[in-house]
Amino acid sequence: MSTFEGERIAKVIARAGVCSRRDAERLITEGRVKVNGQILGTAATNVTRRDVVLVDGQPLPQQDETRLWRYHKPAGLVVSHRDPQGRPTVFEKLREQLPRVVSIGRLDINTEGLLLLTNDGGLARFLELPASGWIRHYRVRAFGQVSDQQLAAIAKGVEIDGVRYGPIEAKIERVQGGNCWLTIAIREGKNREVKRICEHLGLQVNRLIRTGFGPFQLGDLARGGIEEVPPRVMKSSIGPSFFKDKHADRRRKVQGS
Ligand code: URA
Repeated sequence: MSTFEGERIAKVIARAGVCSRRDAERLITEGRVKVNGQILGTAATNVTRRDVVLVDGQPLPQQDETRLWRYHKPAGLVVSHRDPQGRPTVFEKLREQLPRVVSIGRLDINTEGLLLLTNDGGLARFLELPASGWIRHYRVRAFGQVSDQQLAAIAKGVEIDGVRYGPIEAKIERVQGGNCWLTIAIREGKNREVKRICEHLGLQVNRLIRTGFGPFQLGDLARGGIEEVPPRVMKSSIGPSFFKDKHADRRRKVQGS
């Protein structure tokens, strides 16, 4: 601890997400901050990484930076941390390569393509909210025939078995024997949404590939491949509102102390 080296203690406490700088100064005057075992008498103190800072007896939280990965999920893996039926899961597959992560939304076992993974559960919840409005793009191979008119008829959404599905942008890419390839873009990602829409059109999906999710693309990521989204790209793609709230959440937790 010194007055010359390092950084002002209130700044260090605030950056760790414990509270605002001003609240940190208040905690110091209330005698709630210890440095290297001694109650701090003044906020005019600098600390370095070597100093042990406790607030109300607790060490400063380790801040894990939010990280995001693009994963090319192969067919045959379940998107779940534990599968009651014992089928192989995405998370087992990636355990060696990644820290603990959660998926942003899910894909069915036989669906392939882009799955976003993050170490930040708050980010996953934020992006799964309907308000995020991120468009999901799929390529679909399905058995059966469909017309442009049928696809136009569902463009504004459709109700199937009492469930309302929002706008659907669907195009025929090509016809191949008894199958057709379609591109489908939807905004919600309800349970089995693409398959249900296709069934409603009289088609039976036999391959489903997610090619895009919001601003992120599958691109030429190899099957089973994983790539971290550079932090700067992640932040600009997700937008500032999540990151502002994330820091505010951390502060709120401690201000109540
Ligand atoms: N729609 C589906 O039917 N399945 C998926 O995995 C994703 C979208």
